[in-house]
Amino acid sequence: MTDRPVDPTSTPAWAELSALADGFAPDLRGWFDADPERVTALARTAGDLHVDLSRTFLHGDLLEHLLSLAEQTRVLERRDAMFAGAHVNPTEDRAVLHTALRLPADASLEVDGQDVVRDVHEVLQRLYAFADQVRSGEWTGVTGRRIETVVNIGIGGSDLGPVMAYEALAPYRQDGLTCRFISNIDPTDAAQSLEGLDPETTLFIVSSKTFGTLETLTNARLCRAWLLEHLPADADRDAAVAQHFVAVSTALDKVADFGIDPDNAFGFWDWVGGRYSMDSAIGLSIVVAIGPERFAEMLAGFHTIDEHFRTAAPAANVPLVLGLLNVWYGTFLGAQTHAVLPYAQQLHRFPAYLQQLTMESNGKSVRWDGSPVTTDTGEVFWGEPGTNGQHAFYQLIHQGTRLIPADFIAFATPAYPLVDSGPDGDTDVHELFLANFLAQTRALAFGKTADEVRAEGIDDDLVSARTFPGNRPTTSIMAPALTPSVLGQLVALYEHTTFVQGAVWGIDSFDQWGVELGKQLAQKVTPAVAGDPSAIDEQDPATRALIAYYREHRS
Ligand code: F6P
Repeated sequence: MTDRPVDPTSTPAWAELSALADGFAPDLRGWFDADPERVTALARTAGDLHVDLSRTFLHGDLLEHLLSLAEQTRVLERRDAMFAGAHVNPTEDRAVLHTALRLPADASLEVDGQDVVRDVHEVLQRLYAFADQVRSGEWTGVTGRRIETVVNIGIGGSDLGPVMAYEALAPYRQDGLTCRFISNIDPTDAAQSLEGLDPETTLFIVSSKTFGTLETLTNARLCRAWLLEHLPADADRDAAVAQHFVAVSTALDKVADFGIDPDNAFGFWDWVGGRYSMDSAIGLSIVVAIGPERFAEMLAGFHTIDEHFRTAAPAANVPLVLGLLNVWYGTFLGAQTHAVLPYAQQLHRFPAYLQQLTMESNGKSVRWDGSPVTTDTGEVFWGEPGTNGQHAFYQLIHQGTRLIPADFIAFATPAYPLVDSGPDGDTDVHELFLANFLAQTRALAFGKTADEVRAEGIDDDLVSARTFPGNRPTTSIMAPALTPSVLGQLVALYEHTTFVQGAVWGIDSFDQWGVELGKQLAQKVTPAVAGDPSAIDEQDPATRALIAYYREHRS
């Protein structure tokens, strides 16, 4: 699908929405008072996800106009093209088929004459067999000891998804088997991650789609050197790398060049974007940690939301509605950022994961045909788990001057049900936690009027400081529990929401040329940092000055 994108600003729906945005004055209190059915009317379900849109800015015929915008910008046609394997990533001339990674084994999808479902399941079976060997102790290190630590070496999409899921699914991990993650080229990361590890019981997974990423290859070499240096003197060093290193990549030839046995390499395909790859072989560390059965449940969760996105009617289609709402907030109302606030400590890496997913996807200023965008595009995603965020940055969301739409995510069943036996009796701590989520979303929506503050006997000159304007939009997403399936559903929900936004704006959400320049320059600067005079001469004055500072102060 390389035809010209529709300019969203040229559509009738755009004109209608612009008129609505002009002087838009949300009134959540009034909307709730006027419509006792508001909560029911704006509740949506996608798989196990219960989504409450009643405290968003949906009101009157806004949703209809947004759905018209989707229709007029051909979002659903583009969705169908993506699912069918069309090259919806034109700047790299690639299909975009992360949805094929979670199709059931009995499905089939032919792309360029190849049944990709068969390929996907062949790799999955190899991953599962390998993970079973590690988990059972059948796979050993070179000295015959079972593996106790798996270190994933990767960055971006080859790190953030695995580490996020490893944390999120902590209760499902196998005892006696731990994962660590090295991503940063700051040597501190490798040094600290390797600290205390026993080389005899450590397995490294080098995860890199391209197998050309400087950070990952550097860290992989550091780890290889560490392994060879720290194994016992009598260990067979020739066999060590094959026994302690496996790889995940689309570039299997480069894997062999690194010295990793091709039998221990797991492939995937160029139609899986890095930030969409945690459900491919890139998820190997997750498979090892939680086991094939649970990983398959996670894939099934992804697929549930894929099917929802593919088939649900537009007004009931949660990723479609959420993506359009984000366009409303960002493009029409000028919101620059979007907070994601999980009330689940296990999701503490989820906002970081989403930052790559959303911002690498939609941080674009040209459309997929190379023409300039006609609107603002991707917003800044950020967040921290509640309740920690409440004591840090919520002040700005409640009483600041900026519009910050927020997603709150919470689960009915806690992973660790603990009871606080305090002076007033037993308190279920999870209920205390949920009460905070409910209190925050309520305060953000309805605020506290000056009259309510006065009624508490507050001095007149303090009333305005204690008044909360309310009308801060939130979406609440709840699920029964944070299971592997629900995690897959959540990730797929955000993947498709991101897609919808990009499709409205007419951008290619699947390339990432914006990170290339920095990568190229880093290679050119490296010899200058090391002191090569001709390389230093090639730098700009600011870079030269900082290199000089570095060389003077390094001890
Ligand atoms: O940051 C750019 C990027 O290409 C990401 O899209 C990708 O996830 C990351 O680098 C890592 O790339 P690779 O898996 O090829 O090492």
